[in-house]
Amino acid sequence: MSSLRVYPASGPLIGKVPVPSDKSIGHRALLFAAIAEGASHITAFSHGEDNVSTANALRAMGVIIEEPSPTELRVHGVGLFGLNAPACPLDCGNSGTTMRLLAGLLSPQRFRSTLVGDHSLSRRPMLRVARPLRQRGAVIDGKPHPTKTDEITAPLSIGPLPDGTFLGPLEYDSPVASAQIKSALLLSGLYAHGATYLREPTVSRDHTERLLHALGVPIRTVGSIVELDPAGWPGKLAPLHFAIPGDLSAAAFLLVAAQVVAGSRVSLSTVGVNPTRTGILEILRDMGAGVSVEHRGQSGGEPVAELHAWSEPLRALAIGGELVARAIDEIPIVCALAARASGTTRITDAQELRVKESDRIATMTEVLRAFGVRCDEHPDGLTIEGTDAPLEPVDVESKGDHRIAMTSAVLALVARGPSVIRDADTITTSYPKFVGTLRALGVRVDVEV
Ligand code: S3P
Repeated sequence: MSSLRVYPASGPLIGKVPVPSDKSIGHRALLFAAIAEGASHITAFSHGEDNVSTANALRAMGVIIEEPSPTELRVHGVGLFGLNAPACPLDCGNSGTTMRLLAGLLSPQRFRSTLVGDHSLSRRPMLRVARPLRQRGAVIDGKPHPTKTDEITAPLSIGPLPDGTFLGPLEYDSPVASAQIKSALLLSGLYAHGATYLREPTVSRDHTERLLHALGVPIRTVGSIVELDPAGWPGKLAPLHFAIPGDLSAAAFLLVAAQVVAGSRVSLSTVGVNPTRTGILEILRDMGAGVSVEHRGQSGGEPVAELHAWSEPLRALAIGGELVARAIDEIPIVCALAARASGTTRITDAQELRVKESDRIATMTEVLRAFGVRCDEHPDGLTIEGTDAPLEPVDVESKGDHRIAMTSAVLALVARGPSVIRDADTITTSYPKFVGTLRALGVRVDVEV
């Protein structure tokens, strides 16, 4: 496992850099292309390990995925009923999205499958997808969770759905706003006899709905309610041809780096700005950050933009409610922003962070304190006291969490000496070129094996 040694920025970060393709959209593009009829062509794909886990799981079920160039995929769809029984457990690696979306796709299949994951994924809650899938007739079970009663985790065992039986209709009120739950239910709903009707507390990212709509599937949304009724739908998905937008969740690390290092100016091209994901842009603006958005049309039904960021004095903010759902993956890097803002930032309604790749509330509290930032941990968030003094150099663990590793690297830019971030390989799950990009912006980072 490698570590990063990140040196304090010796000058402003200046440059225009690309960001990796959107991880959420990448999973969905692969899954829908796999069950489409014919060959799909997906471009601007950047091989984050989470997306590679989805691709490999599909390959293990007989889907041919070619890579004509380093950023292109040609996926030979097998149709809705063309997946083969995998010969061994499907390894979802670190990717919760792979596991939960596959649970939806595999529940209606006539074969048995097992989903496994790494140490972090094997502690994440899976009842949230198993329960509603069972409610519509799926055969799905997991291992009892090591610490939580009435909870299951990976390995998940799914199917086979007995011959002569079908998944039924589903009306479900989700207790959490979760695109993974929603997408698992919509995927299973493509095969169900009856409609899927789902209500969320607030709207979660809607990439699945956009793609299904573009592929001609009868899907309707009203606020945070979504309905898919396959009655009358011929049961065929057309192949996809599109360029995956850049990942705003990855861009966020650079947008914040440009704020915390005085004098910086950074531009990012072709970044997805789907409104269900743009909470981070609103938070940046409300904290006084220098950020502008130049809209550049659409790709695959998703709005894209060029983003520009420059450092401005930051002020503290109260962050809660639906804004947290629209910035859920960005809360760790928002903590870094808060650490450099004047005043005390309070983050609430973020209890979902406790069941991400790490317990991000606990891990960020530890990381911030290591850097010398004053903060308090709460059941549903944190309180962070900003400072403009140089931070303490740290030696921290990522806890197997890519977003914790990258947030630590950004904070290290304003420490008064080099910092070490251990278990940094995890960054490749979402941002394989993160270190190279920091270097392109003038940062000194050494990779130590
Ligand atoms: C994702 C949904 C979110 C997010 C995750 C990716 C997706 O998880 O945190 O990184 O691609 O559907 P939840 O569905 O658990 O909110």
